[in-house]
Amino acid sequence: MIRKAVFPAAGFGTRFLPVTKASPKEMLPLVDKPLIQHGVEEARASGIRDMIIVTGRGKNAIEDHFDVSFELEAMLAKKGDRKLHSLVRSISDMGDFFYVRQNLPLGLGHAVLRTMDMVGEEPFAVILSDDVIDSKVPVLRQMYGIIEGRKIGKGVYEIVDMVEKPKPEKAPSDLAIIGRYILPPSIFPALQAIKPGAGGELQLTDAIRALLSEERVLGYEFEGVRYDAGTKLGFLMANISFALKDPEIGPLLREFLRKERIS
Ligand code: G1P
Repeated sequence: MIRKAVFPAAGFGTRFLPVTKASPKEMLPLVDKPLIQHGVEEARASGIRDMIIVTGRGKNAIEDHFDVSFELEAMLAKKGDRKLHSLVRSISDMGDFFYVRQNLPLGLGHAVLRTMDMVGEEPFAVILSDDVIDSKVPVLRQMYGIIEGRKIGKGVYEIVDMVEKPKPEKAPSDLAIIGRYILPPSIFPALQAIKPGAGGELQLTDAIRALLSEERVLGYEFEGVRYDAGTKLGFLMANISFALKDPEIGPLLREFLRKERIS
């Protein structure tokens, strides 16, 4: 049903400077995979084939990562390293990749609006790859189940209002929006109509809020653990958690943490 996923990846990554001065934040590793690859894998595991990545200046590494690396593959084939060869090849086989540039840093809403022509008249997913989610069932797949059922059930909410970055005392509830969305094509005219919001940026939240008066908007409390890898602390916590589960380095890391009396 959902065939396309949009990955906004044009931000400056200021919270990670200086490492993001010349390298995309989306390429920061979660153990050994770039953050954005985790997002793409989640989309793939949810049945999505078309990956639309919104990039900008200095983001070429993302395109190279999802492209075939002929030289690397040839070198690995010559060495007879089948395991690494298929690992490298599998990345470019994860889907069909499309790129669009966000020429001005006007916010998440603006980034999504840039994909209007590529998405066309169909529902689509948006994945913010700095929200890392550890779950048994990919979150997007969990969300499809909700849309198909269109039922208010366990963990499903009919949204009455939403606000971008409220002050804690002004927050309408303790439920937060994280970076997984399934949106209808009607979001595009809504994005065209909104004015700059929080931080002076065009906010996706404001466009979804505008849809509330026209259509039903559901929220889903997913099953899994979310790490805010858009912050240094969340990024490190995600790395430690994923590394502890890694069969190769997990036991050794646990041992190290024990010795250092960290855990
Ligand atoms: C972004 C979005 C915000 C969303 C959040 C989810 O904010 O602008 O609407 O709720 O991601 O993680 P950021 O965390 O990049 O400031």
